[in-house]
Amino acid sequence: MTFMDRGSKPAVLVTGGAGYIGAHTAKALHEQGFLPVVFDSLSSGFREAVRWGPFVHGDIRDAGALADAIDAHNVKAVIHFAGLIEVGRSVVKPDLFWEHNVGGTVTLLSTMREKGVNRLVFSSSAAVYGQGGRAALETIPEAAPKAPASPYGDTKLACEWMIEAQCRAYGLTAVALRYFNAAGADPSGLIGEAHEPETHLIPLAIAAALGDGKPLTVFGSDFDTPDGTCLRDYIHVNDLAAAHVEALKAELAPGAYEAVNVGTGVGASVLEVVEAVGRAVGRPVPHSVGARRAGDPPSLVADPARAGALLNWRPVCSSLDQIVSDALRWERSPQYGAGVRGGRCGTVQTTHA
Ligand SMILES: NC(=O)c1ccc[n+]([C@@H]2O[C@H](COP(=O)([O-])OP(=O)(O)OC[C@H]3O[C@@H](n4cnc5c(N)ncnc54)[C@H](O)[C@@H]3O)[C@@H](O)[C@H]2O)c1
Repeated sequence: MTFMDRGSKPAVLVTGGAGYIGAHTAKALHEQGFLPVVFDSLSSGFREAVRWGPFVHGDIRDAGALADAIDAHNVKAVIHFAGLIEVGRSVVKPDLFWEHNVGGTVTLLSTMREKGVNRLVFSSSAAVYGQGGRAALETIPEAAPKAPASPYGDTKLACEWMIEAQCRAYGLTAVALRYFNAAGADPSGLIGEAHEPETHLIPLAIAAALGDGKPLTVFGSDFDTPDGTCLRDYIHVNDLAAAHVEALKAELAPGAYEAVNVGTGVGASVLEVVEAVGRAVGRPVPHSVGARRAGDPPSLVADPARAGALLNWRPVCSSLDQIVSDALRWERSPQYGAGVRGGRCGTVQTTHA
């Protein structure tokens, strides 16, 4: 029996559900017959993104608030997105990242155990791999060496270790999803990526093409890749959201722990993204080539075979043109204008591995 058999509309606590990926996952949960209960401190998410279930304003470091939310909504499972995400900030404030990401996850796991909630999906990251001595264009399987290149990546790997140990010790059943580059937006235009300041390639390229932002700088064109610019694996945020629902529904034995890559298996170069944005906007992206950024690996592309085999999941909307056109629709939507430009919803995000 899975937890799904116990109720007609099982409640799932979505920590960080007011943020970018959490909000898209809350929508997917609602569409699949779950009740998403968003638990978020709003430190970088925004209230307007919570549309598909109840909202609890709280911090994952607060065991009492978590316990109350679990009791009040009869929570059966948790999808855990909440945490600090900016790689660059983690280098200058590592203690803060350990406190929120690792400390917060310890508190969440203890509260789940106390309340008998034994099903978890955790937001991990390709940042757990680092460069790890791979050949330039090799895809990354889950068993690849782990060598995070930032304190942010360290916290994700530490959480994975802790979760795996608790699966073994207490019978928790958990899936850690290692995302590659989340991108795009829900086609409704209701939710999307909203970070302030924005440092992600696709929104920056769109802003440059629309004349709303500075001309784009391409960091390095002398990498060992086909066109010399970095290759990344862009995964549509709705494909990512669907992977969470599949991870929640997967029939796993009590105590099972699985770590699964979520990517497409196909890399796109920075110049390919720039061209796709130019096509979608209908005018070229003004850009120049600058120096490489420290720590940028030439290529980060998932081997997604395990996600197919274990979760029966495959990306269905992650073509570069689809990602870019959905991101563009969001940036032109009234919700984006009201939220981001109106200053009510500043989420801050820098690079993710
Ligand atoms: N965006 C990506 O490409 C990417 C890639 C790999 C992994 N991830 C991981 O996915 C998760 C979600 O990322 P996102 O891009 O949606 O970020 P986001 O900043 O949009 O969302 C994070 C949410 O967590 C909330 N939060 C932060 N600290 C909290 C706390 N202590 N208690 C309660 N809520 C708190 C924020 O208010 C925000 O709503 C993160 O764990 C991130 O590390 C993201």
